[in-house]
Amino acid sequence: MSKTQILILDFGSQYTQLLARRVRHLNVYAEVIPFDKTKEELQKEYTNLKAIIFSGGPSSVYLSEAYTVDKALFDLNVPILGVCYGMQLITEMFEGKVELASSQEFGKAQLFIDDLKTPLFKNVKNNSQVWMSHADHLTQMPKGFKQIAHSDSSVAGIANEEKKIYGIQFHAEVTHSEQGIQMLENFLFDISKCQKDWEMKEFIKEKIAEIKEIVGEEQVILGLSGGVDSSVAAVLISKAIGKQLTCILVDTGLLRKNEAQKVMDLYNKEFDMNIKLIDAGETFYNALKGETDPENKRKIIGRKFIEVFSDQAREMQGAKFLAQGTIYPDVIESSSHGHVSKTIKSHHNVGGLPEDLKFELLEPLRTLFKDEVRAVGKELGIPDLMINRHPFPGPGLGVRVIGEVTKEKCDILREADDIFINNLIEANLYNEVSQAFVTLLPVKTVGVMGDNRTYDYVVALRSVNTIDFMTASSSHLPWEFLDKTVNEIINKVDGVNRVVYDITSKPPGTIEWE
Ligand code: XMP
Repeated sequence: MSKTQILILDFGSQYTQLLARRVRHLNVYAEVIPFDKTKEELQKEYTNLKAIIFSGGPSSVYLSEAYTVDKALFDLNVPILGVCYGMQLITEMFEGKVELASSQEFGKAQLFIDDLKTPLFKNVKNNSQVWMSHADHLTQMPKGFKQIAHSDSSVAGIANEEKKIYGIQFHAEVTHSEQGIQMLENFLFDISKCQKDWEMKEFIKEKIAEIKEIVGEEQVILGLSGGVDSSVAAVLISKAIGKQLTCILVDTGLLRKNEAQKVMDLYNKEFDMNIKLIDAGETFYNALKGETDPENKRKIIGRKFIEVFSDQAREMQGAKFLAQGTIYPDVIESSSHGHVSKTIKSHHNVGGLPEDLKFELLEPLRTLFKDEVRAVGKELGIPDLMINRHPFPGPGLGVRVIGEVTKEKCDILREADDIFINNLIEANLYNEVSQAFVTLLPVKTVGVMGDNRTYDYVVALRSVNTIDFMTASSSHLPWEFLDKTVNEIINKVDGVNRVVYDITSKPPGTIEWE
């Protein structure tokens, strides 16, 4: 018997994959598929289907071009849960009515349960907070359904207990819905009788088989940055096809201290991966000479990176696939609406490659969220320190040396940054903050060391705490810790005689200085 399967029919909501992730977190296999699959297709492809979830979506069910499902799906005899658009679609299909509401319901709302006995709301507290995001609302109950919940302005839940078809107007899958996970658990285990028989290991096994099948005897190249996503993708692919994968690691001269070496040591030596290290520091420093404008610097670095990477790719004439560590949030960023979660943002990590380089994309992590990618990495045996690394911007130290970038300044910055990061690790603070780094300012100030006057650079320590990197606050690092770090930097790093701590939040500041 194959493992329990849950299907999520995608109507284009930005939360569709989040539904899949929540189900997987509950140890049940979930897959997002296009909404227009027929009953026969599902019966053929999924032999242990336990339930179907209809996702939300941006459209309106009453429009002639609205997305709809094969009515026969309701005869599959598996429980169905419609979320937001999904509930409205069920309503429309069972002869109820959905209309544009006089005012949209967006954001937090209170859920009033009308039927405390419905299994969907077992152990769910009444009057809890839910997350709403809809402009249409249900104005006439579908046939055979009863109302099981409402909010201040809309019907919030419907059920046909006999057929086990449920609908909720709110998004149970987002964390703002306080009892959402409990409801999903109820749907999966009480209503749909799912087994908890899936874990990350399964994802890895399936992906390895899939990669083997797709790639066959062909060659694959991948730009390895040392960041979490590209590293996990690389290790996963190398487990599948071994030396048919060549990783290209471009040392731009803008990486952190010993970074290229560390990546080589780990992935090449310990994971026996095929990695080509390209020492391109000079090229980047030359290209950046005299440039002080942050946006121009970014463009120059991006362009050079593509040039260097393309030259390497061109040398690998035979490679058919370009692998990338694209993850789900990258996919959302690049999609519009529809069941477009399938739209490919080509060369997301490598920027646009030139026309003459044609690859097929291999993106094994494109359905996963960051925490899932980390779980895969951990399962693959990548050390915690690599998996839990803070984000590092694509242009690297290019945006952390403020003003003109030179090798000399990058070297100074590398030393200071290394001290700060190592101290955070030693003090068990590294995992307490979201991102920490040092920035070198284009300012020299006067200082005194022993009996000598010094005239050296200022560096700024920055450490922030954030959930989504859109807003952030500066970390409240202990004074003693800062004191020790500042002293160490000034004593050990030639060229720096003053250290400041940036406590600006975002907004108004950004996390990086450029
Ligand atoms: P800001 O500075 O905009 O940064 O508050 C938010 C997050 O994005 C990272 N960052 C970048 N990442 N390319 C990247 O891949 C870039 O050009 C870039 N600029 C900023 C930054 O480190 C932080 O995590």
